[in-house]
Amino acid sequence: MREGRPAGTAQTVAFARAIESQRPPEERLFEDRYARRFLGRDGLWILRLLRGTVSRPAVLYLIDRIGPGLLPYAIARTAHIDEALAAALGRGIPQILILGAGYDTRALRTPGIESARVYEIDHPDTQTFKRARLGSDIEAIQERVRFVGVDFDHEDLGGRLRSVGFRFDQPSFVIWEGVTQYLHEEAVDATLRTLATMAPGSEVVFTYVDRALIEGTRSFPGGRRLLAAVRLLGEPFRFGLAPAEAGDFLRDRGFELLEDIGGEDFSARYFTPLGRTDRATETERVARARVARA
Ligand SMILES: C[S@@+](CC[C@H](N)C(=O)[O-])C[C@H]1O[C@@H](n2cnc3c(N)ncnc32)[C@H](O)[C@@H]1O
Repeated sequence: MREGRPAGTAQTVAFARAIESQRPPEERLFEDRYARRFLGRDGLWILRLLRGTVSRPAVLYLIDRIGPGLLPYAIARTAHIDEALAAALGRGIPQILILGAGYDTRALRTPGIESARVYEIDHPDTQTFKRARLGSDIEAIQERVRFVGVDFDHEDLGGRLRSVGFRFDQPSFVIWEGVTQYLHEEAVDATLRTLATMAPGSEVVFTYVDRALIEGTRSFPGGRRLLAAVRLLGEPFRFGLAPAEAGDFLRDRGFELLEDIGGEDFSARYFTPLGRTDRATETERVARARVARA
């Protein structure tokens, strides 16, 4: 990330959620009515163009040309994680930890989340911008949401969490959406090992980039452009996993892989049932894992 500036990539995913949220209710996977607050003038202007019946197909076509499958992926991953969070709340999980929260607004928009304590962890620069944009809405949730500034690459996550009252002896649900690829491998490793000390029954849902994209060993539509774009934003992709090795990678760090989905799975599960033909990129996936019993 660039020193002293909020993450540009966090704004990009908020943009995707704002686009999804302005679809008609019967067509959309979720509504995040706060997402547009994080956009600049350009983003708001594109949202306006997407409301026009004539301009909409052209804008969607261009968005897909620039980043093939990225918009459907960003939308589907959020829907998928929303679903996993709802299930965790349904099981009565008392703590929700959102790592690299960016402009995630689940603490505000998820039904039933009031019953849990929420910890939002992020780089301090992104968090400052988020708080400013949410204004008085953040005051309304101040009682049950702790905002904790942590740099995963340079700080001890476990120590920071304990210092703000996070209980490692209680079951938790952890969301780590769109973050691992920006970290050094040591930070991903240390974070997972810290999370593996949470109470049995705790789960982590996280996204990861296919390592073949970063290493250039497989060609993905728009892959090179994506790597160049994130580099330009000052947030290069650093960490990736081979999907076939995800289970072993997690097992070595104290987790049992429960689910790992991407690409076509998203169409079958989310888009096709709504009569949509969106196709998500194969470059990134979502994994859900449970703390393995000692
Ligand atoms: C693409 S955004 C994803 C934000 C959010 N989870 C979402 O999906 O909307 C990446 C997030 O990772 C955070 N991040 C990147 N590097 C970080 C680091 N070294 N320490 C803490 N947070 C970091 C950024 O601040 C940003 O919020």
